Amino acid sequence: MRKVVIIFLFLILAFSLFFFYSGEFAVETSAQEPNVVPENIDNDENDAVPAQNFEDNKEEEEEAEKPEIVIPISGTESYYENVDVVDNPDDILVLANKKNVLLSDYVPKDLVKLPVFAPGRLEEVQYMREEAATAIMELYNAALEEAGLEIMPTSAYRSFKLQTTIFQNNINSKGSIAKANETSALPGQSEHQTGLAVDMSCKSVGYQVTSRFDGTEEAKWLAENAHRFGFIIRYQKGKTDITGYSYEPWHVRYVGKDAAEYIFKNELTFEEYLEE
Ligand code: DAL
Ligand code: ZN
Repeated sequence: MRKVVIIFLFLILAFSLFFFYSGEFAVETSAQEPNVVPENIDNDENDAVPAQNFEDNKEEEEEAEKPEIVIPISGTESYYENVDVVDNPDDILVLANKKNVLLSDYVPKDLVKLPVFAPGRLEEVQYMREEAATAIMELYNAALEEAGLEIMPTSAYRSFKLQTTIFQNNINSKGSIAKANETSALPGQSEHQTGLAVDMSCKSVGYQVTSRFDGTEEAKWLAENAHRFGFIIRYQKGKTDITGYSYEPWHVRYVGKDAAEYIFKNELTFEEYLEE
């Protein structure tokens, strides 16, 4: 009987040793396997699969998040084809034009009311973004002090909704969408929606936005000095093919002093400046 017990214990010991050196270790080593592959080995298959999956996911996310452009005036659908949605509307150097469209719900967060404004204007057009508002008042005061000229704001921030009304009125008065779009921006395509643009005028032309403003002392002073305060004459003569609009000596756009000085000295459009 003792012999049987000893043989039995010996067999148990032998089996234990066998499993210790084979089965258990195999599991441990496979868990460590990734470290075994040297990092600098090219492995096309491993690289390609995650990269492809990542791109697919990115495209799906972009598709899902693509913001919707609202087209508020029927017949203007083609004017919103092949456009980009502005993704930096709060940037002082934001570009809003016929190819770069602001979303209908974009409203600047820091609009402040200008303390001087042409008489009889809608309350809602008398606002600009704070930095631009401060700068336009500096310009207004400098024109008064240096030249005795009053250059008056007449139309500043305009909401998408108001621009819709204005553009519709322009279609009615000019006879076609194309004609209206020579001087007036479609909703979403106007810089007035950024709160950084303002139309200036003077008393001698009844504070109107009119071609008669061109040639006045005020228009001349504005063209020569706007850059000192961070503004540019946005739609220059002979640059329609770049800006998309005919000459507007009254429409100034705040871009900050550095950009304005550079644009003025180099006689650039804003589009050309941003391309540099
Ligand atoms: N007149 C300019 C282009 C505007 O409507 O914004
Ligand atoms: Zn304007």
